[in-house]
Amino acid sequence: MTRTEEEASVALAEPPAGKAPWALENLPPFPAVATQLIQVVAREDVNLNEIGRLICSEPVFAADVLRIANSAVYGLQSQVRSITHAIVVLGLDRVKGISITRAFGAHLKSSLKVVALQRCWRNSLAGALVAEKLARPCGIDAGLAHTAGLLRDIGRLALLVKYPDSFANMLAVSQTDGYDLMYTERELFDVDHCQAGCWLTESMGLPTEICDVAAHHHQKPAGASFGLLQLIHAADTMADALGFGVLVLPEAPDFRDTLELIPAAARSRVPEDPEELKAEITEQLQVLCKN
Ligand SMILES: [Fe+2]
Repeated sequence: MTRTEEEASVALAEPPAGKAPWALENLPPFPAVATQLIQVVAREDVNLNEIGRLICSEPVFAADVLRIANSAVYGLQSQVRSITHAIVVLGLDRVKGISITRAFGAHLKSSLKVVALQRCWRNSLAGALVAEKLARPCGIDAGLAHTAGLLRDIGRLALLVKYPDSFANMLAVSQTDGYDLMYTERELFDVDHCQAGCWLTESMGLPTEICDVAAHHHQKPAGASFGLLQLIHAADTMADALGFGVLVLPEAPDFRDTLELIPAAARSRVPEDPEELKAEITEQLQVLCKN
């Protein structure tokens, strides 16, 4: 069965309310530092010291954030030796993004031994990096854009951590037979990753705009206004068009068409040659995915 209008309409179903769907029962808990970081990043009044203290509360994690901050991809002239210094030199937004990415990466570590699932993580990261890059000209906080970009598929990441083998098989079948992924998620787990993401973000008490992103990032947002949901929908589509999709789709969107999804001011941040943007994202992915 290939993607049909009927499947697409089912894919837009509202997430279930109330009791956790069976597939989400007894999930391995997200690391405390990741949950706290998400809560803090989503607040507008967050300050440098608060983020710094949180990152430093787990020394191994803080060391990992410093390693990334000192990588060639950020091109710093001199080494940063403390989280506070990293925030000053790289900016709070970027350190927020790096921190949340690494906190989630650590949570996924054992599942990412399965090659098929690495593609899911790269897809989440690529969308987050595109969203972060485009956020400022859209008037959106870049750290929040990165976090929302990463959390858009929190439902998928939770399912693949709990059921890595089943999820990998599902990806293989979807790729071979051309099934729509949201459709196969519902067939296998009775819930797709948007419904799962909505339930998870609501149960974590995250702000409404993050819950909306997790629930609705695959829907083309209606209306003329451009906010966080519109940005993440665009970044998700652009990541697919750049070749970072979860599946290799024969009908992947044309990258130039995806530029229509973002305001003109943000288009100036996108290189004319999509290969240039792809190389930039790939370089950042290599640093962020390194164990
Ligand atoms: Fe998604």
